[in-house]
Amino acid sequence: KKVLFSGMQATGTLTLGNYLGALKNWVTLSDEYECFYCVVDLHSITIRQDPAELRKRARNLLTLYIAAGLDPEKNCLYYQSHVSGHAELAWILNCFTYMGELNRMTQFKDKAQKHADNINAGLFTYPVLMAADILLFQSDVVPVGIDQMQHLEITRDIAQRFNNIYGDVFTIPEPYIGKTGAKIMSLQDPTKKMSKSDENPNSSIYLMDDPDAIIRKFKRAVTDSGKEIIYTEEKPGIKNLLDIYCTITQKTVDEAVKEFDGKGYGEFKLAVGETVADHLRPVQERFAQLSKDKAFIDGIIKENAEKANYFATKTLRKVQRKVGFPDRI
Ligand code: TYM
Repeated sequence: KKVLFSGMQATGTLTLGNYLGALKNWVTLSDEYECFYCVVDLHSITIRQDPAELRKRARNLLTLYIAAGLDPEKNCLYYQSHVSGHAELAWILNCFTYMGELNRMTQFKDKAQKHADNINAGLFTYPVLMAADILLFQSDVVPVGIDQMQHLEITRDIAQRFNNIYGDVFTIPEPYIGKTGAKIMSLQDPTKKMSKSDENPNSSIYLMDDPDAIIRKFKRAVTDSGKEIIYTEEKPGIKNLLDIYCTITQKTVDEAVKEFDGKGYGEFKLAVGETVADHLRPVQERFAQLSKDKAFIDGIIKENAEKANYFATKTLRKVQRKVGFPDRI
């Protein structure tokens, strides 16, 4: 079986963007691949976190992976901090990555601007840790939203560079980007991506929002002038709502446009809101149920960390040998 790797940060509450751009695809792909889905807590501390809060969010995120439909018996769901190979490989890869490459990362530039009081070295080398995550498992495919493409490209460059020096050590990973949903935009400003860190709560649908809140936010979503429901760059608000609707219902854009032909924006927004609320309800219910079962989640965490560790160590030992570290006796 081919290997799939992906991960999410436990910072903030997951949005519909995270769900439609990544998590939903993870569930669809999980039968086809040997899958590793990580809660990337090492990445989270590149920005200051409240320790108790981070711990709680990490656990909630792992629980949500299961609630969204990932079978923990078949998929390896674990915390990055429980597998030390991530940090060890990241160090080695740091020595094969250029400052100039990292300087070009748009996410670093954005975050450095936003957190100007704490531009730490971890924030700068964030993409190298992400490359380590992916390469540690010899991943073939990495399902992500469009905003992670640049990080995938640098991962491929680092892997290729390493292979050119030491032979075929790493599998070169391919990104997997969904046909729709790969970039969900803010409901209040459809030229900006929907983000966990948006200050305006009306901009984002959070996965744990109750149905009333979801419908209210969609009703208030910024649309465009005019009244036609068509899929075009000139109507980014309507386009975004169609994207959301089609990703959830798995309808084509043409089908959706036909369905809402002649309907007003108000009716359309309500329909999208109800569709999202109905889709998220069972996920929320499973989440509430699973959260109560401490022993079950604890068992998953322990078992899967061991499994991830086993695979990670295999790659790590190979890499350590290649770069010239002494053998273990
Ligand atoms: P993160 O935690 O910011 O986001 C998790 C996933 O959600 C996708 N995403 C979106 N997709 C569509 N529309 C949006 N508005 C939207 N916002 C976020 C992201 O593309 C991502 O797939 N660096 C990564 C985490 C990471 C990782 C990895 C991912 C660390 N190591 C290895 C893959 C492989 C991040 O911060 O994602």
